[in-house]
Amino acid sequence: MTWLITGGAGYIGAHVVRAMTEAGERAVVYDDLSTGIAGRVPDEVPLVVGSTLDGERVERVLAEHEVTGVVHLAAKKQVGESVELPLHYYRENVEGLRVLLEAVTAAGVPSFVFSSSAAVYGMPDVDLVTEETPCAPMSPYGETKLAGEWLVRATGRATGLATASLRYFNVAGAASPELADVGVFNLIPMVFERLTENLPPRVFGDDYPTPDGSCVRDYIHVVDLAEAHVAAARALRSSPGRDLTLNIGRGEGVSVREMIDHINAITGYDRPPTVTPRRPGDPARVVASADRAATELAWKAKHDVQAMITSAWEGWVRLHPGAARG
Ligand SMILES: NC(=O)c1ccc[n+]([C@@H]2O[C@H](COP(=O)([O-])OP(=O)(O)OC[C@H]3O[C@@H](n4cnc5c(N)ncnc54)[C@H](O)[C@@H]3O)[C@@H](O)[C@H]2O)c1
Repeated sequence: MTWLITGGAGYIGAHVVRAMTEAGERAVVYDDLSTGIAGRVPDEVPLVVGSTLDGERVERVLAEHEVTGVVHLAAKKQVGESVELPLHYYRENVEGLRVLLEAVTAAGVPSFVFSSSAAVYGMPDVDLVTEETPCAPMSPYGETKLAGEWLVRATGRATGLATASLRYFNVAGAASPELADVGVFNLIPMVFERLTENLPPRVFGDDYPTPDGSCVRDYIHVVDLAEAHVAAARALRSSPGRDLTLNIGRGEGVSVREMIDHINAITGYDRPPTVTPRRPGDPARVVASADRAATELAWKAKHDVQAMITSAWEGWVRLHPGAARG
């Protein structure tokens, strides 16, 4: 099969391209390079520079490359920015998806995998978040992901398009240093940045109802996440009308304090954190039940948080050569 991977020049998309091609699938990347990096796309994989908002272009690419499935990762992903620029986020993430789905259905492409997010759940008040936990996104970003799931599902029901919406939890790590995330939006790079600047890492609130008072999250290695895409893509093959919504996490909670301890140990900085006030909208605990993905995809995460931090740190040191200790 040939898979069109939108956003394939991005952090997660580049890992999906790698996993798909290693699994013997053909891949074509479609990316507007707004945050993506062309050099992340392997030489043997065609890269088409274009926006998902350009439906005619997408249709031509689907036909030219005889595409038989789409993995749609192209989106804007910054929660804070989405609060300031909701119309931009709805345009890129919802309208971009609607136009893409129009082209996909017009071309008769049978399978569609969609990048969703744990942000659809908002502030879940449960120990383990299942796919049945009510969705109540707290930001325009989360709203665009939930609206995206609705669009994908409705299109599947109307046309027989086989669909999978994958709700990623906290993605971290890299397959190799050059594929590492270059943004500083998540806990691990935020701690790296503070340590590298010789500042104490920050714990945003230590009075949450959790064992050590700091927030608890479920971290997933990007290599495991990429494997989940391969498994989802294969599960959709020859399954017209299939409709999957799956959490992609490890089912294991790690607190901010525990993460900072691991990061200190791995980087050799050994700098105790400082506690600052809670950030608005941070839920105390968001941990996936990963059971459904295990059942439906026969997939399970293999990497632990140490592997995520170690590989992310190698990527960080590549970009900030002065950061390495010793
Ligand atoms: N990184 C995370 O922790 C996380 C968690 C949950 C969900 N997600 C989702 O995973 C997907 C990939 O995220 P990422 O972390 O790799 O981000 P990223 O910014 O590295 O990748 C997004 C890619 O999409 C491209 N793109 C954006 N808008 C486009 C458009 N309209 N047309 C064509 N290309 C476009 C960008 O150039 C970039 O290459 C996104 O849909 C994001 O919402 C990410």
